Amino acid sequence: MILVTGGCGFIGSAFVLQWLAEAGEPVVNLDLLTYAGHPGNLASLADDPRYVFVRGDIGDTALVSDLLRRHRPRAIVHFAAESHVDRSISGPLAFAQTNVVGTLQLLQAALEHWRALPAAEAAAFRFLHVSTDEVFGSLGPGDAAFTEQHRYEPNSPYSASKAASDHFVRAYHHTYGLPTLTTNCSNNYGPRQFPEKLIPLVIRNALRGEPLPVYGDGQQVRDWLHVDDHCSALRAVLARGAPGATYNIGGRSERANLQVVHTICATLDRLRPRADGRAYAELVTHVRDRPGHDRRYAIDDSRIAGELAWKPAVPFEEGIDRTVQWYLDHADWVESVTSGAYRQWIAQQYGAPAEAASAA
Ligand code: NAD
Ligand code: TYD
Repeated sequence: MILVTGGCGFIGSAFVLQWLAEAGEPVVNLDLLTYAGHPGNLASLADDPRYVFVRGDIGDTALVSDLLRRHRPRAIVHFAAESHVDRSISGPLAFAQTNVVGTLQLLQAALEHWRALPAAEAAAFRFLHVSTDEVFGSLGPGDAAFTEQHRYEPNSPYSASKAASDHFVRAYHHTYGLPTLTTNCSNNYGPRQFPEKLIPLVIRNALRGEPLPVYGDGQQVRDWLHVDDHCSALRAVLARGAPGATYNIGGRSERANLQVVHTICATLDRLRPRADGRAYAELVTHVRDRPGHDRRYAIDDSRIAGELAWKPAVPFEEGIDRTVQWYLDHADWVESVTSGAYRQWIAQQYGAPAEAASAA
């Protein structure tokens, strides 16, 4: 079996669903259920004997060590993090705590577990650290895409915290021999993404007839990847990646933000026309730019394509179509994750983290 951290978030939940459907191997999901974690994302697994949910913190060493001892996972796939750049600008300390200190505590628990394993199990064990292309900083319009050798130049508190965690993962491989894998992936989109991020936020605001906030001139470029493609890449890295290696993952879909917003608007015009017949694009509003806003990210995926025979399968426009349709079909999901009542329900249903964890 494998241990997933942060499996109730956007990418973690997609990974757990895909993993159980494709690999069928049992999963223990350790998630603290911060504002970004929603157990409802995995409600379809409620009666699945291959799935165990534990509410808890990656930094709770006693809990993590106990889970490792009891379940003996052959791999840890580490998603848990604070993930939103704008939140990192207004509150950076939480990012240092979870992404840096939490990852370090998880690495230390993994190391102690790994050292006690019999040789064959130790040789097969993997610690897969899910990171971001944002650690490489910002590119100009004509610059070559990020390779794995690109120097680290993080510009936001979020990317600085992820960069620091990447360095600790590297150090645990180099110093102690822990069989680590690190992936640096571009911007994901798809179902169950919390509506603080650009694509779900634009869909939600458009459906409510509210302004669609575009930071600055909207010409910042991101390389968009459907979340299911990210998950299939992670499975390839886990199965065939070389211990100690890092892999860049991208969507081969560079788009300017304004172009992304217009694609969403055009899709909504087709799938859910406004009652007054006006175009959703009329709601686009340019707002103050994000401080330190990175201009462009782009991924050179030669390593993962060449060594692991992986490439993205979902074309951007098709993926956006499916994503918009998902949000149209799941208005209740958006409502529940954004309402204050949802937070109360979590506390009532799961209690304090430690109680729920020991009951799990
Ligand atoms: P998310 O914010 O949707 O989910 C994060 C999850 O981690 C939540 O379920 C949350 O409850 C959990 N969590 C937070 N702190 C925790 C802690 N201390 N202990 C246990 N669980 C905790 O994030 P996401 O978008 O799914 O991203 C997952 C990972 O992928 C992150 O590490 C992120 O840096 C990385 N990543 C994201 C993107 C993207 O576009 N979203 C791209 C590349 C890499
Ligand atoms: P986001 O989804 O927050 O991801 P990241 O900052 O990790 O790339 O933002 C994607 C891009 O969209 C980024 O360039 C910032 C921009 N953006 C807006 O223009 N308006 C918004 O309201 C948000 C949330 C993001």
